[in-house]
Formats: sequence, structure tokens, C-alpha cells
Amino acid sequence: MPAKIVLGAQWGDEGKAKVVDYLTQEADVVVRFQGGANAGHTVKVGDAKFVFHVIPAGILQEGKKCAIGNGVVLDPQALLDEIDELAERDISTAGRLLLSQSAHLVMPYHIALEKAQEERQRDGAIGTTLRGIGPCYRDKIERLHGLRAMDLLRPDALGDKVRAGTAAKNEILTKIYAQDPLDPEQILDQYLGYAERLGDYIGDTSLFLNQALDQDQTVLFEGAQGTLLDVDHGTYPFVTSSNTTAGGACTGTGIGPTRIDEVIGVTKAYTTRVGNGPFPTELENETGERIRELGQEYGATTGRRRRCGWFDGPILRRAASLNGLTSIALTRLDVLDTLESLQVCVGYRCQGELIEEFPADPLVLAQCEPVYEELAGWCSPTTHVRRFADLPANARAYVERLSALSGVPTSLVSVGPERAATIPM
Ligand code: GDP
Ligand code: IMO
Ligand code: MG
Repeated sequence: MPAKIVLGAQWGDEGKAKVVDYLTQEADVVVRFQGGANAGHTVKVGDAKFVFHVIPAGILQEGKKCAIGNGVVLDPQALLDEIDELAERDISTAGRLLLSQSAHLVMPYHIALEKAQEERQRDGAIGTTLRGIGPCYRDKIERLHGLRAMDLLRPDALGDKVRAGTAAKNEILTKIYAQDPLDPEQILDQYLGYAERLGDYIGDTSLFLNQALDQDQTVLFEGAQGTLLDVDHGTYPFVTSSNTTAGGACTGTGIGPTRIDEVIGVTKAYTTRVGNGPFPTELENETGERIRELGQEYGATTGRRRRCGWFDGPILRRAASLNGLTSIALTRLDVLDTLESLQVCVGYRCQGELIEEFPADPLVLAQCEPVYEELAGWCSPTTHVRRFADLPANARAYVERLSALSGVPTSLVSVGPERAATIPM
């Protein structure tokens, strides 16, 4: 099975990096296809912990190749920080990491604009990660001032582009948001420095990936964020600015949909969300607090506390259909080890009617009350378990019920952050 997409089935932070790291053992190439440094992807190997924002989690598996696709919006400083941190830990990226020439560059004015916008919005703020993601994608789509990685390879033309982009954004920053203007010459110097350090990494990732697939190599597509943060299919406007769903893996890398063999939806055994927006099964009570503390649910990028709630069946069913999931990878089962009883949302009550599907209309969603089914907890540790049959009977029943609600089989259960704490099915 050479091409597998691994993406988030909920609102992000599902444990995608842990699953990607595990699956990379049997893969040749790992590629990121959307998002940027808004992502925080954590991998634990023994006592060591790595948090990736732009480099694919697969980089930790020796000898494997990694790519950053055209669909990613790249903050060069974030990438260099990660390259340097890996080097300090004796992991070389040279010759192993390819950056798409077509990936758009996050510029300092994107970050400044986003901060100003979010502050101005106050109550209506999206609660973004402030990494310049939205403004950078806007420049890409608008086609006036977008800068791409390939522009770093042409220093002569880079100056004009940086000056024009900064001038246009300075107008907005100063006139609309009463902020200080940014200095284009300083930005240019900074990006010329990036060009020197990143030049050798830049290339044609679409060609590289298609050739790898032609040679029957296994390629993993590492999603960022999650299905309900998709700009088209998520809980708009409380979403990110890219297609986090399976189609994004094709457009974000330049490979055709007929190449994809598997789509694995990573899902927590409960639900979390960071940032604003609807969340039907949210627990704003002691149980939610307990899950947050048990799971140490604090963001890997911003450190913000994650909102916690019960598993939501309609969300998973929606994710299965939007992405054409072939299986789910269920993570963080161990976080529930000490809970005496568990609730699972099997549908919603909406204006007196029972519905089983997650509504796309936010006004309908706002009227939905979750309908729960109670399942008994297992009240024993699972982190050491390596075979499904060795899980406590109630834990097996829980996994099977979630799978049934999602309508897709479970291919993997994760019972701890460590690479080894994984149960293949
Ligand atoms: P991602 O953005 O989807 O890659 O996920 P994050 O890295 O933001 O958050 C997932 C967190 O859960 C990280 O701290 C992981 O180390 C951790 N994690 C992943 N799988 C498991 C698991 O099965 N059990 C526990 N306890 N932690 C896990
Ligand atoms: P990973 O890849 C969880 C959320 C933000 C905010 C919304 C828009 O680690 O799962 P943005 O900065 O993208 O414009 O913010 O999306 N968000 C994430 N939530 N995990 C992520 O990434 C996220 N990336 C963005 O909190 O609500
Ligand atoms: Mg994360």
C-alpha cells in the first residue's frame, strides 16, 4: 500500500505525529501537505520529546526522506529553528528534506496583520495561533503579493517583491490598525539570509513524490489540524485557512487522487478543541477538568488549555465521509483508564428531532444537544498493553463501539505517547 494519508478526524491535536512516527517505520517518504507553523506535532521517543511545526514527524526515523509540499505556508524562521534543533540533537536534515519551490512564504507582515485583526475582533476572534497562516493564504489566493520558496532562489527579483508586499501591508497596518509600519529593507535582509540557508532544500516536490510512488515506495501524507478545521468543511468561520481533509493531500503535494491507497483518520478516544467555535460535547465541568489534567491537554504550539469533551460519533461519521476514511487510528485510550463511566455521543437532539449526522449549518449546530450512551469504564492501566486481546474487556467494547459509530474499522490503538505504546489491529 504505497500512499497513505494520515489526517486529523476532529479539531486537531489528535496525535497525528505519534501515528505518523509509528507508521514511518514501514514507509520511505513523509510529506506535509497543508498548514504551517500553526501545527504542533509531538513525538516521544524514549525520554526525548520532539515538537514539530513544519518538518514532517517522519524525520525522526533514520534514513527516511521528508518533504514539505506546495500546500504548506512556510515560515522560514520556524523551519530553520527546527533544522537547527534537530542538528543539535544529532539528526541531520541535509539530503533528507525537500521543500517545495511553490510553497508560499509567511512574511512578518502576515503575522503583524493577524495580530491586529484578532485584537480588533475581540469577542468574535477566531482564536488563531497567530502564526500568519490566514493572511499568507489570503495573499496566495489574491495573487498580488504572494511570495514563494522559489523566490528565495532569485535574490535579484526578491527585493522588488518584498518591497511591494511590505508597502501594501504597511498601508493596512498604519491606516486601518494604527500600527507602526514594518521596514522592508530589514525584511529583505532577513529573507536573503533565509535564501542562503534554505536554497539547497528547495526543489520540485511533486516530481519527487510521483517518482517515489512510481518506484513503489511508501509515501505518508501527514495532515495538520483536523477535519473540522477545514476551511470548506469545518465549523466555519472557526476554522483554519486550508483544506485539512483528504483532498488537500493531493492539491497540497501535486499527486493525483488515484494514487491514494489508504486514508487514516486519527481520533482521540474523547474530543478536544483549542480556540473558539462550537463544540457540542464540551464538558465545562469537573469531568472536563479531569480529562484535561489526565491528558495534559495544553497546546503544543501556543500552550493554551484545550477544551475537553466526550467522544462525538456524528463528528467521526462526518470525517469518515468527507475524507473517505479507510480506517481510524484511535489515540489516548489510556487517558480514560481511571474513569468509572464514559459517555459517547451517538446523535443530537435538534428542535425535538433526533439527528445522527453532524450538521454543516452552524445555526443548526447551535441548536443541537448531544444524545449520549453510557459505557462502563475499565479502571485499569492500558499503557503497557501491546495486543488488542490483552486490553480489558470494557476497553475493547469502548473501541469497538467507537468504530461502529464511525462506520470504519480501527487499524491502530494508541495507549501512550511513546512509539512502542501502540496496538496494531
Ligand atoms: P498532533 O498535532 O495531532 O500531532 O498532536 P499533538 O502533538 O498536538 O498532541 C497530541 C499529544 O498526545 C502529544 O503530547 C502526544 O505525545 C500525546 N499522545 C499521542 N498519542 C497518545 C496516547 O495514545 N496516549 C497519551 N497519553 N498521549 C498520547
Ligand atoms: P495540529 O496540526 C489544534 C486552530 C486554532 C484556531 C483555528 C485557526 O497540531 O493538530 P490558525 O492559526 O490556523 O489560523 O487558527 O485553528 N488550530 C489548531 N488547533 N491543532 C492544530 O494543529 C491547530 N492549528 C490551528 O486554535 O482555533
Ligand atoms: Mg498539535
